[in-house]
Amino acid sequence: MSEPSEFLVFGATGQQGGVIARALRAAGREVRAFVRNPQSEKAKALAAEGITLAVGDLFDRASIDRAMSGIRGVFSVQTSSPSGLVTDEQEVAQGKAIGDSAVAAGVAHLVYSSGGAAGKGPTGMGHFDSKSQIEEYIRSLPIAATITRPASFMEMMMLPGMGLNTGVFTFFMQRGQSMQMIALDDLGRINAKILCQPERYAGQTLELSGQHITGEYLEEAFSRAAGRPIRYQRFSEELLAGNDFLRRLTTLVDDGVVAGVADIPALEREFGPMLKLNQWLSGPGKALFEEALKAPQAGIALR
Ligand SMILES: NC(=O)c1ccc[n+]([C@@H]2O[C@H](COP(=O)([O-])OP(=O)(O)OC[C@H]3O[C@@H](n4cnc5c(N)ncnc54)[C@H](OP(=O)(O)O)[C@@H]3O)[C@@H](O)[C@H]2O)c1
Repeated sequence: MSEPSEFLVFGATGQQGGVIARALRAAGREVRAFVRNPQSEKAKALAAEGITLAVGDLFDRASIDRAMSGIRGVFSVQTSSPSGLVTDEQEVAQGKAIGDSAVAAGVAHLVYSSGGAAGKGPTGMGHFDSKSQIEEYIRSLPIAATITRPASFMEMMMLPGMGLNTGVFTFFMQRGQSMQMIALDDLGRINAKILCQPERYAGQTLELSGQHITGEYLEEAFSRAAGRPIRYQRFSEELLAGNDFLRRLTTLVDDGVVAGVADIPALEREFGPMLKLNQWLSGPGKALFEEALKAPQAGIALR
């Protein structure tokens, strides 16, 4: 690897890796991003911001090893089976390969981004249980590691098919039921701080969330931001009866497994104020929200 970098970020052309690579860069750190295609618009944008590109593929261990050379801290994230890009077994293999490669290269600290449903016993959802397996493996390795478990991203609510464009937004929780969520920007700055202070965070598992959000709150926040009424309803029984994936996820929200257990006041004491949905809607999420309000009708596509 020609240019020396302090941190190696996986998934940097995606949501989490992107905000983390940029938060590190904004803190003046040297960052190497692991990318499949250096000619993609997202990879070129990273390079234009002073982030070095290491070309590779998570299915190719030798390319991971090459990218790892000379690195002090690694941010590890894998895509999961709902993306259609990997099976659950492949997600686990990729998460383990990054850990093994970091150990072999003598990396000082690894941050593994898991998910809020991990570590709470078997869920029966492959892309949640995969993360519990990767966590367990990472903890067994001879490397200082921090595990972060992000709640659902606020950005996920802007995906096509949730109904913002129709005036009726549909999501997992009942009107009065709460689910924890987090803005990607908060994930960026928190994971970057963890990577920059390994002595403070090594050995910890941190549940990350910015806010408890109910259906009623969504109705109010979306209506105020849109300047017109947006009603909230839970996914209909008819939809859930015909969509096994959504039905099982919704059951896990009801059971509390994906509702989120982060201690938000403690997180704010440690990392400073977290973005609330209304701030996100008028700030970093504004463009996404406006786009979602205008989007053509589409089927639900969650990941
Ligand atoms: N959405 C949520 O609310 C939520 C909440 C908690 C946890 N999660 C978890 O977050 C993970 C996904 O993170 P994300 O949303 O940040 O990812 P994302 O936006 O879907 O991006 C995936 C990234 O992985 C890269 N990638 C995919 N396959 C690769 C391969 N074979 N080799 C190298 N790179 C590869 C992609 O690169 P290309 O640009 O080349 O495609 C991209 O940079 C999933 O495991 C999901 O379960 C999601």
